[in-house]
This record gives sequence, structure tokens and C-alpha cells, in this order.
Amino acid sequence: MADKDEFQDRLLSLGLARVSEAAALASAQLIGRGDEKAADQAAVNAMRDQLNLLDIAGVVVIGEGERDEAPMLYIGEEVGTGNGPAVDIALDPLEGTTLTAKDMPNALTVIAMAPRGTLLHAPDVYMDKLAIGPGFRPGTVTMSMSPSERVSALAAAKGCSTEDITVCVLERPRHEEMIAEIRSTGAAIRLITDGDVAGVMHCAEPEVTGIDMYMGSGGAPEGVLAAAALKCMGGQFFGKLLFRNEDERARARKAGITNFDRVYTRDDLVRGDVIFAATGVTNGSLLSGIKREPKMVTTETILMRSKTGSVRRVTYRSPIR
Ligand code: FBP
Repeated sequence: MADKDEFQDRLLSLGLARVSEAAALASAQLIGRGDEKAADQAAVNAMRDQLNLLDIAGVVVIGEGERDEAPMLYIGEEVGTGNGPAVDIALDPLEGTTLTAKDMPNALTVIAMAPRGTLLHAPDVYMDKLAIGPGFRPGTVTMSMSPSERVSALAAAKGCSTEDITVCVLERPRHEEMIAEIRSTGAAIRLITDGDVAGVMHCAEPEVTGIDMYMGSGGAPEGVLAAAALKCMGGQFFGKLLFRNEDERARARKAGITNFDRVYTRDDLVRGDVIFAATGVTNGSLLSGIKREPKMVTTETILMRSKTGSVRRVTYRSPIR
């Protein structure tokens, strides 16, 4: 019989899907209502309640913020019943609060669980990110390449022209130069207004999403979640923390980070096995959003385990009570 304190990823994964579903269901009524805070709060409350039902001794390592900034699901909060394996939890109860408030595509609820001490405690700073899907040899694209070199290298590895490559980028003024350089190669860009966890995940299934590569800076916590997803789906991810001031460097030191120039690979961010669940809130290319009918609600969750590389899509349908 398995030891109750072992990381029983197979058993725990279904519980994780419920946690993700609960957060999505709670935010459902706030889709398109223009209230980002209310949507986020509803997802946080529901995620926390469900998480506390799981038989785990969990600690939130990627959460809603520092303890003094976030009353719930803050970094360091202990979650679960305490009876079970010691695990790290990385979560974003609503990844794409603005997408939800405006009913725009690809808002998700996201959660990952891994044995204690195996997820990077990423501070709330920016991270420069680069991702491609599975099937490429190590070193196909690197952080030290320029954006145009990355496009050419990926096209060569795929045996296609640069015009056949599509790169996903967050639409931000800070990315204008990079966007111009990518376009100069003839590659297409899918601009997203928010939600780079979904953006990175899109690289893992290019035949479904049409996206070959993700580039640009976004939240470092989201970088760890994206790395967890790619560890399950396959694909390469690189991230480098970006610091704008001394306060951000102090946050990193507090999280135990000493080398500020390090380029983290996917497996540096997620050092062991991980399970990952995400539920669609609004419709997207990877997941359907929540569907509400007069008496029924339906959600779609992607549930994955890195140990086996299994990817399960769970449709949940329930009468509205
Ligand atoms: P929220 O859901 O917290 O609003 O984050 C959305 C997001 O787009 C992330 O996906 C991304 O990593 C980050 O914000 C980008 O930050 P910024 O808006 O400062 O460029």
C-alpha cells in the first residue's frame, strides 16, 4: 500500500481538478460584469475552500501575494487538512482578471501541486519568458538569441519558412521593439492582451492553437505555472527574472534568490513531478469557457501529470443549485 505521506500524484490529481473547477464556477457569474476585483475574490474564496478539503499538508509558494498584501492564499499560507503529503502549491485563482471582467478569451483558473521544496518561490516581479512546444532538441532556441534569431532557428528546426511561424506576445508598449523585430522576419504574431500562462500553454499544441513560440515579459509567478504546464504537456521554457528597482531585488532575496542573472529552465522552476489543473473561464483555443444554461452549468478542465505525461480533459456538468 502507498505511504500516505508520499506524493500520490495519481490520487491527488482529481482533487486538484475539483479545486480548479470550483474557482471557475465561482467566477462564472462575474464574467463580463466589468468588476475584476469581485471576479478574482470569488475565485480566491472558492479555490481556498476546496483546497482546504484536500488531504495534503500544503504550502502556497506561488499565490495571491505577500501575507501583508493578500489575506487569502498568500505566500506561505498552509492549506489542506494537514493529513497527507507535504506539497508546494502554485496557484492563480483567476489568470486573466481583466479578460474575465471584459468577457475576452482565454481566462483560466490555474493550480499546480508538487512535492515540498520543488517549485521555485518566484517573487512578484517580471520574468522574461521564452517557450516552444515538444519535439525540438535542447538548444533549438535560447534566451541569448535575438527575437529574429529565435524565429529563424525554430523555422529551421521545423523545416519551414519563417513566414510559417506564429509567435504569441503580450501586447504591451515594452514589447514594441521585439514585435517589430519578429515581424521583420515575416513571422506572424498573435497579440494577447493578458494571460500569458495560456499563451505559453498554446505552444504545446501548435496544431490546435496555431502558436509555435511564446516570447516576452510577464509575471514571474505566472512563469512558474506555465513551466509546470509545459512539464506535463512537453515543451521547452526559459525564464529570467527582471528587476526594476531595489524593492524588487529585496523581494527576490526574501524568496531565497541570490543569482539575479540566472536563466531558469523549465526543470529549474519545477524540479520534480508536478500535477497541473486549469479550468476555462472564458472560451479559448485550449479550453472551452464556462457554459451557463438556465438550469445547468458546464466547465472544461485540463488535468495533467508530468510523471506520465497524461493529459485529461474533464467536462463537468451540474444543475445550478
Ligand atoms: P492578472 O490575471 O493578475 O490580471 O494577470 C494577467 C497577466 O496578463 C498575466 O498573465 C501576465 O503574466 C501579467 O498579467 C502581465 O503583467 P502586466 O499587465 O503588468 O504586463
